Amino acid sequence: MTDDAPARVIAIDGPAGSGKSTLAQAVADRLGLECLDTGAMYRAVAFAVLRAGGDPSDGDFAAAVARTIDVSVDGGEVLVDGVDATVEIRAPSVDRAVSLVAANPAVRSELVALQREWVRRRGGGVVEGRDIGTVVFPDAEVKVHLVADAAVRAQRRVDQTGTAPTGGGPRGRTYDQEVETVAEDIARRDRIDSTRRASPLLKAPGAVVIDTTELTFEETVELVMGLL
Ligand code: DC
Repeated sequence: MTDDAPARVIAIDGPAGSGKSTLAQAVADRLGLECLDTGAMYRAVAFAVLRAGGDPSDGDFAAAVARTIDVSVDGGEVLVDGVDATVEIRAPSVDRAVSLVAANPAVRSELVALQREWVRRRGGGVVEGRDIGTVVFPDAEVKVHLVADAAVRAQRRVDQTGTAPTGGGPRGRTYDQEVETVAEDIARRDRIDSTRRASPLLKAPGAVVIDTTELTFEETVELVMGLL
């Protein structure tokens, strides 16, 4: 951990739809800590790139945006330059752009600094993302690597949001069609997030792997609490 690192950090990493956010919130509530969704920060930068008319694969442009915008994530609310973008960062266009932006090392170093600062100010936190245990807080008190069967992850996403993230699918589509669309988007993002050069999604040394495919939410929370 860095010199000024806080005493209590719980790191939760895993692929899209593995249940990180709900788990992180539940663990944070139990511990009286706040939780940080670092994916929301990458989404905020992708949103700002698109809003500025930029190409998400233009590395210099995305890096300049990451350096100049003001991103604040607090209690589930995301502000970009002081304007609430909590809903907009979940738009299908951002789903499509965010993996490209997150693969950019310059964007990552800006956001990693912000994430460490967020935790430092609060004296700890439950932090979830892809590189928390490997890069951002390698000395976290507990590191969890969540995994779940891809089909189950897609189903959970659809059950949670009721819409397909990539298509903005017409509601007339069947449940199975929505799950299929979501599964394709998740598979695409998993591929980019796990194979990129900068901080790919990997199991951190010392991380405990929890496969939630056959676990209930409560069982998963209890398992994590048991690690503390
Ligand atoms: O958790 P999420 O699906 O909202 O994350 C959005 C994107 O950000 C996803 O493609 C992976 C990326 N991300 C990342 O690279 N590193 C993190 N610590 C968190 C998210």
